[in-house]
Amino acid sequence: MRPLAQMLLACVVALITGCEHSPGDPPGPIPRPAEVTDFSTLYSENCAACHGANGENGPAIDLANPEYQALVDDATLRKWISGGMPGTEMPAFAQSAGGMLTERQVNALIAGMRQQWWRPNAFAGATPPPYAQPQDGNAHDGEQTYQARCFACHARSRQQITSPDYLALVGNQALRSIIIAGRPDIGQPDWSHLGPGGKTATPLSAQDIDTIVAYLASLRNSAQAANNSPERPAAATPTGR
Ligand code: HEC
Ligand code: HEC
Repeated sequence: MRPLAQMLLACVVALITGCEHSPGDPPGPIPRPAEVTDFSTLYSENCAACHGANGENGPAIDLANPEYQALVDDATLRKWISGGMPGTEMPAFAQSAGGMLTERQVNALIAGMRQQWWRPNAFAGATPPPYAQPQDGNAHDGEQTYQARCFACHARSRQQITSPDYLALVGNQALRSIIIAGRPDIGQPDWSHLGPGGKTATPLSAQDIDTIVAYLASLRNSAQAANNSPERPAAATPTGR
């Protein structure tokens, strides 16, 4: 199985089995799940399996990265945690979206992440590219930028990020967040330290990132089109009546 897929499957299993109390648990009043508003309990029961025990070293983005915390606003965090993140394995948690958490619990998670993982001046004075991925990035330019800025490491990295199997599990916004904020836990540099020069590299521009994400999306989309294609001729074949 693909590495990311395998790890995410393990998360889902941990999530399901982690919710049950085994017969060996000490007796005592167990708070009703909806009453729990303690951040570390909420985080470890709902998020740690995928995002890592302390917000890092999980298969999914490291929420403990101060650059990520500085990049994303509360409304966006609420949107993804409540409703899930399309195109990824990130589930919807709000009761209003079919999940298990109340609005108060989602707010407690956001407040807790800010308190634990947000740092002042996380970008050391630099201005990061905007968080949101636009729709109109130029995939052709992105391929060239990918070759110049990503290929040297990713031709030999563990995770084949240009493989359609990987891209099928990661949405465009998730790619963009990782490119801008980096993943210090697994060795992905942030947008300002990418490329041959490392620490002295010219930071990627917002447009570079728009186009690299569009390029990766185009690899995902053409693979999906190819996967779907066997059905198309069948549907279009005249029935001969
Ligand atoms: C089954 C695995 C899984 C679980 C459980 C999970 N996530 Fe996620 N989450 C993901 C994946 C996958 C992404 C997409 C980003 C990536 O691939 O790293 C994501 C994305 C996110 C994002 C958006 C990142 C961005 O690009 O802005 C936030 C915020 C987030 N998760 C918070 C949480 C919180 C808080 C919890 C617990 C309430 C949680 N997640 C539980 C897998 C999971
Ligand atoms: C200095 C080397 C280096 C450069 C340059 C680099 N990466 Fe990475 N990247 C890594 C390492 C190391 C990882 C950790 C996973 C691995 O080993 O494959 C990683 C992981 C990632 C991940 C997360 C994979 C996952 O597990 O979900 C994404 C997405 C990614 N890189 C995108 C890019 C893009 C896009 C570029 C170019 C803009 C780029 N990287 C440039 C070293 C690099």
